[in-house]
Amino acid sequence: MTSTKGTRHGLALVDLDEQGVDRAFRADVLAGLRQSPKAIPARWFYDERGSQLFEDITRLPEYYPTRAETEILGARGAEFAALVGPGRAVVEFGSGSSVKTPLLLQAIAPAAYVPLDISGDFLRASAAALAAKFPGLPVHPVEADFMRRVALPAEVESMPKLGFFPGSTIGNMVPPTAVDLLREMRATLGEGAQLLIGFDLVKDTDMLLAAYDDAAGVTAAFNLNLAERINRELGGTIPVDALRHEAQWNDPLARIEMHLVATRAITFEVAGQRFSLAEGETIHTENSHKFTRRSLSLMLLAGGWTPAQRWTDAEGRFAVVLADATLPRSAP
Ligand code: AVI
Repeated sequence: MTSTKGTRHGLALVDLDEQGVDRAFRADVLAGLRQSPKAIPARWFYDERGSQLFEDITRLPEYYPTRAETEILGARGAEFAALVGPGRAVVEFGSGSSVKTPLLLQAIAPAAYVPLDISGDFLRASAAALAAKFPGLPVHPVEADFMRRVALPAEVESMPKLGFFPGSTIGNMVPPTAVDLLREMRATLGEGAQLLIGFDLVKDTDMLLAAYDDAAGVTAAFNLNLAERINRELGGTIPVDALRHEAQWNDPLARIEMHLVATRAITFEVAGQRFSLAEGETIHTENSHKFTRRSLSLMLLAGGWTPAQRWTDAEGRFAVVLADATLPRSAP
């Protein structure tokens, strides 16, 4: 049975079994709890409560990425306009933020706006809000999984494209997945395309750890909500009071990791299967990779994009990069 269900982006098509359980969620959780070390993909954070908690995170004093990126988008409009030029179709990978997207659109005089998202209802709602804000701008929302090549609407076929992927969401992917996505974006956008993309930067470890373990405990609630969601939706009996949120800096891999740590030995059931965690054992729930000038350039190049210009916020915490679709070439 296919149905709709709340996600980070609103309502998405999901594949439910006879009991109304999301099959992909159950499969990922059972596989993740069986493996060692235990790990569950971060995409399952974003049920309705998780999506609301993420919105709350973006307003926390410790969580600088949203403010830093918004600062760049607000301050560099004239430079974007000069480098991008008018008349491009802006293709946003994700539904679009009510703050960041208008900053870009009002700066560059685009010919059309095409938001891509797997979650149809929220996509249509945010596209309608954008269309109301920019009355003369053709808006063509496309419901699609942008991790694979997407066929864009015929109306924008002949227009040059500017991809937009803010938020350092690329950092939530391990590098091979991030490179695959960049390549798919290039295939979706075609020859002559440009890409404007956000990257969170490597910085002082204390500042990074605070951003992922805030004093008010909102990020802890966001992480623990995953265990609560498993209990709610998969008949889980996880004793959530025996789990603690932990953010760790993994230096060799240049990433913040979020874990749920067992404060005592526990056993529990999920979807009728039994699992246990020893005291101190963790479930790894998220990676948030941080980049340097060189590492972000290498990643873009590996994904088929040549960096053209890079901007950072005044405190040098976050980068927005404009890149050009790299021409396929042979050696050297
Ligand atoms: C969505 N993503 C870019 C956020 C990040 O910073 O990695 C998710 C997040 N996890 C904890 N806080 C915010």
